Amino acid sequence: MRHMSDDHTHVQEFFGSRAADWDSRFPDDGPAYAAAVALMGLRAGDRVLDAGCGTGRALPPLRAAVGGTGVVVAADLTPAMLEAAVRAGRDADGQLLLADVTALPLRPESLDAVFAAGLIAHLPDPAGNLVELARVVRPGGTLALFHPIGRAALAARQGRQITADDLRAEHNLGPLLSGSGWDLTSYVDEDARFLALAVRRG
Ligand SMILES: C[S@@+](CC[C@H](N)C(=O)[O-])C[C@H]1O[C@@H](n2cnc3c(N)ncnc32)[C@H](O)[C@@H]1O
Repeated sequence: MRHMSDDHTHVQEFFGSRAADWDSRFPDDGPAYAAAVALMGLRAGDRVLDAGCGTGRALPPLRAAVGGTGVVVAADLTPAMLEAAVRAGRDADGQLLLADVTALPLRPESLDAVFAAGLIAHLPDPAGNLVELARVVRPGGTLALFHPIGRAALAARQGRQITADDLRAEHNLGPLLSGSGWDLTSYVDEDARFLALAVRRG
């Protein structure tokens, strides 16, 4: 079994080297993030976490959804990603936290929703880590697992095949979520996006 700090180091090395040109590699993704956030049903005044926020690409639409009275918190483990977020001015839309989403410095049920783009495949213990995300969300709150490209298109880009044990396949993700305090309510996997929405069980 890998030690937790090995996972941290791996994530920080992998994403640290990609942070500086992260946004310029995918310059056209903005509308897909906005469309995904729009489907979360956020309301003015809501409190939302962007888990594994990277350069904060989701922060402008999250802020627009919750308004000035809402709370937007954005957590990432990789300092270089948060530095790029600041350079892009995204700290204007949310509070950036250098934090591990597998052990969040947040109170139980303190949020209405969690948005997580491109995160789940990088978690060391997806079932346990989804329990941690459930801990900080109120019953009835929302989880959005998003990627601005579908599973098949992503696999093709990375030169690999999708296997039946893929974590994000609906037949795996549904049971994974329900064993972690979430009910899968919507699942879309098409070339232009992956979006799974779940509700925190009471
Ligand atoms: C594929 S990137 C996606 C970044 C951003 N959400 C986006 O859509 O552009 C995954 C991000 O998750 C972060 N990450 C991975 N594991 C993490 C953890 N345990 N806690 C916090 N952030 C983590 C990485 O540092 C990286 O910035």
